[in-house]
Amino acid sequence: MEFFMPVTVYQEEECVIHHAKEIGSLGKRALIVTGRHSAKKNGSQADVEAALAKNGILFDLFDEIEENPSVETVMKAVKAGREAGDDFVIGIGGGSPMDAAKAIGMLIRHTDYTWEDLYRADADCSSVPLVLIPTTCGTGSEVTGASVLTRHDKKTKMSLPHKIFADLALLDGKYLAAAPESVLRNTAVDALGHMYESWINGNATEFSRMFVREGLRVWKQTKEVLLGKKKPEREDFDRMLLASCYAGMAIAHTGTAIPHGLSYILTYDLHMPHGAAIGYFQEGYLREADEKDRETLLALSGFRDLSELHDFYEAVCGKWEIPDSVMTRTYEAIASQEKRLAVPTFFCDREVLHRIAFGK
Ligand SMILES: [Fe+2]
Repeated sequence: MEFFMPVTVYQEEECVIHHAKEIGSLGKRALIVTGRHSAKKNGSQADVEAALAKNGILFDLFDEIEENPSVETVMKAVKAGREAGDDFVIGIGGGSPMDAAKAIGMLIRHTDYTWEDLYRADADCSSVPLVLIPTTCGTGSEVTGASVLTRHDKKTKMSLPHKIFADLALLDGKYLAAAPESVLRNTAVDALGHMYESWINGNATEFSRMFVREGLRVWKQTKEVLLGKKKPEREDFDRMLLASCYAGMAIAHTGTAIPHGLSYILTYDLHMPHGAAIGYFQEGYLREADEKDRETLLALSGFRDLSELHDFYEAVCGKWEIPDSVMTRTYEAIASQEKRLAVPTFFCDREVLHRIAFGK
């Protein structure tokens, strides 16, 4: 049984400012990678800039990362970073800027690499030093090696075949306070999906399940907030962020499973938020799992049964009608991936996959 978690993680109030020195020790000139608005609104970008200034570190800002970032956007940031001579990368935001920051870090490290090298399995995936600061509560990207980018040439999202880990992850729940409610809800469902998929996973170990157990214990306490029955307080934001981080540590060991595979085309074709898209399949995934796993996970996450989980999903992510043509495209894409079908702890062939995708 292996345990590998190379990221130094700090979770505390004013985390970025407290660890300014460690951020500054990673290089001489930083490329800050983020989206257009949220890092400005929630104060994370200002904190990073202050932390860098404190140590006399120069920086460049690339704030054009879109949701589900494309390879093209990554290359634009890489060009800017290479030209400016940036020698480390700070990704701030949700999964999109953090996933993009990993790819950008790899290509800044290897100045002769093109975008194709991102998807070349035998490429050297080492990156320049990388700091990740999450401002949503679902992806866990700050502690995983995963990077998922949009491939317009293939009309879907695709994971890089590499593991690119951050050097430093800085978690401060205060950044979540400025996030729209819909973002908190969708990303919290993503974290839940990570834990379910990590547990019902042939790669699961006692270590990875330890993170799921603890992650669900913390996640469960945020349900009232997610359902809009309680106004979030500081400690709720801390819990959401911590649950997401635990979930990330779990999938860092196991990877995700069928629901994530099925979600990418839904997001590409229907612009479904990632959490809503992966959440859509959780009920079906749990239904196919061994009874013991299903009951354990439902109990740990505080659901009586699958129908309560179903109602929770619809209350939090909305009711989604997926056109048959889109579901068929995503089903066919995953049905042909033998490796993906072998991930669950239960037997999964085309027929079982069909039930998970179409609910019948
Ligand atoms: Fe996810």
